[in-house]
Amino acid sequence: MIRNLSYIGFASPAYEEWRTFGPEVLGAELAAGGDDGTVRLRVDDAAWRVAIHPGEADELAYLGWDVAPADFDVMITRVQAAGFSVQRGDASLAGDRAVAELAWFVGPFGLRHELSHGCQSGAPFAPGRAMSGFVTGEQGLGHAVLIVPELAAAEEFFIEVLGFKDSDTIHAMGTHLRFFHCAGTAARHHTLAVVPIPGMVGMHHLMLEVNALDDVGHALDLINEREIPLMMTLGRHPNDRMLSFYVRTPSGFDLEYGYGGRLIDDRTWQLAEFDAISEWGHKSPAVPLLPAVLRPFQPATSSEATGAST
Ligand SMILES: [Fe+2]
Repeated sequence: MIRNLSYIGFASPAYEEWRTFGPEVLGAELAAGGDDGTVRLRVDDAAWRVAIHPGEADELAYLGWDVAPADFDVMITRVQAAGFSVQRGDASLAGDRAVAELAWFVGPFGLRHELSHGCQSGAPFAPGRAMSGFVTGEQGLGHAVLIVPELAAAEEFFIEVLGFKDSDTIHAMGTHLRFFHCAGTAARHHTLAVVPIPGMVGMHHLMLEVNALDDVGHALDLINEREIPLMMTLGRHPNDRMLSFYVRTPSGFDLEYGYGGRLIDDRTWQLAEFDAISEWGHKSPAVPLLPAVLRPFQPATSSEATGAST
C-alpha cells in the first residue's frame, strides 16, 4: 500500500524563481539541482522532496508515492491488473528521484504516478531561513489536491487501485471535495484530495505542514511584505483541523502552508461530511486568480484506451 507522498515534480517556465521562493519564503533548503537547471527543494533530511523542472508550461510532472519495499511488486501488479501500463525505472531515473527503486505509469487523467521505495537521505536539513522545520517522517512530504474531471473514476482509481482510504467529504463551492488518507494508525488526515471539475484536470495545491504556529505567521509576514498573491487568508479547515493560508507559487498552483493537522487511526476513523471548507478564514481575493495548472481533459477513446487499432 502507499504509505505517503514521498516527492512531487513540476515543470514550469518560472522554475528559476523557486531558488528564492523556496528558501526565502517557504523556508525550504535548496538541494543540488539538475544539469538542465531543475530546482530541487528539501524540507527534511530526504535528499529532496519537491522538484521544479524547466518547462514551457506550468504542469504537474509527477506524483511520487512511497510504498513499503515488500509491497512494491504487489502495487505494480495491482496497477497492471487495472489496465495501466507500468514501466520500471532504470538506475538513472531512480538516481534522479533519489530512491532505491521506482516504477511509473500514466493514470486515468493523464497524470504521471511513480511508485517507489527507499527514499534517500542527505545531510541534516538546514532550513532556508530561521524556522522550526516541516512535519514529514512517516507522514511524508504533505498532501496534494488534484482537480479531476470525474469523481467516480477518481474514487475507483485512488481507492480501488492505489488503496487510499476514505477520510471525508466537503460539500462546498458547488462541488464535492473528497479526501483520502493512507492506511495506518497515525496517517495524515489526507495525503490526497480531489476536486471534481467536469472536463478539467489540474493541480490545485500542495500542502506543507510546519512544526510551529509561529512559522505560519512569519511566512505570512514575508508573503505580505513581498506582495506575493495570497489565494486564501489564514483559516482553519473543519476536517483536518489544519490552520493554514494558501499562497500562489511562481508556477501557477497554490501552496497551503499549515500547522496542526490531525492524524487518523484507520482502525477507529469515522467518516464525516461537512458543508464548508473552513470553520473561519480562508477568504479568497475579490478577483481570484485562476490556477494555471489546469487544462481541459480529453478522455481517450475506447480504442486508444485498449491500444486496439481500428
Ligand atoms: Fe489542503
